[in-house]
Amino acid sequence: MRRKLAAGNWKMNGTGSALSELASLSQSYSKASVDILICPPATLLHRAADAVAESAVTVGGQDCHSGHSGAHTGDISADMLLDAGATSVILGHSERRVDHGEHDEDVRAKARAAMDAGLKAVICVGESLEQREAANTLDIIGGQMSGSIPDQSTGENLIVAYEPIWAIGTGKVPTLEEIGEVHDFMRARLERRFGEGVGRSVRLLYGGSVKPSNAADIFAVSNVDGALVGGASLKAADFSGIIQALESI
Ligand code: PGA
Repeated sequence: MRRKLAAGNWKMNGTGSALSELASLSQSYSKASVDILICPPATLLHRAADAVAESAVTVGGQDCHSGHSGAHTGDISADMLLDAGATSVILGHSERRVDHGEHDEDVRAKARAAMDAGLKAVICVGESLEQREAANTLDIIGGQMSGSIPDQSTGENLIVAYEPIWAIGTGKVPTLEEIGEVHDFMRARLERRFGEGVGRSVRLLYGGSVKPSNAADIFAVSNVDGALVGGASLKAADFSGIIQALESI
């Protein structure tokens, strides 16, 4: 059985005052029947880890460098994230791929570094609107998975998030059939590459405009093991609605 995961991506949002949201989330979830992860900006990571220490909530990074240390101004290594209290790191988010020109091979190198450090890698894949309209979605997802996911992946250290670019922050969500088609495809790809055991144990998240009001329907889709949530993870009340929907599946 795959344990469900509700993951929040705060992106470039939040200063110290946002820690109260984490405090209230960890008060509500001293225990939980699903995994809960919040990825705040790196500046908050250490304090965020302290804020959730007595709870079922864990924290993670939003990116890492592929190296251990060295002359890389502004970058953060996987070891540094781990040291700050992270359990996981989001990698290859479309905003990184677009804003920072990250390609599949960069994401793969970062994922290797994250896994070597003992972090779980939440690797994001997703098509643009043009690619979907040209009926290229599965080709794009398959290519990103082959390119971005390292060989050392297991059900423990890998999570894959399907995030259609056109659904991120837009309020637009694919149909449940479209989500199911991509998630079934991703499951089959993982089983083919890693064998049934590992392939079936990797968690697959859906991300893109997930809200308390649509979460339950999305979580009922086959091979959806949780969500990667942007905007609706910033407020504990909204994110709790999504966690509750996941807990009741
Ligand atoms: P959103 O973002 O929930 O605000 O659409 C999702 C994401 O980018 O991970």
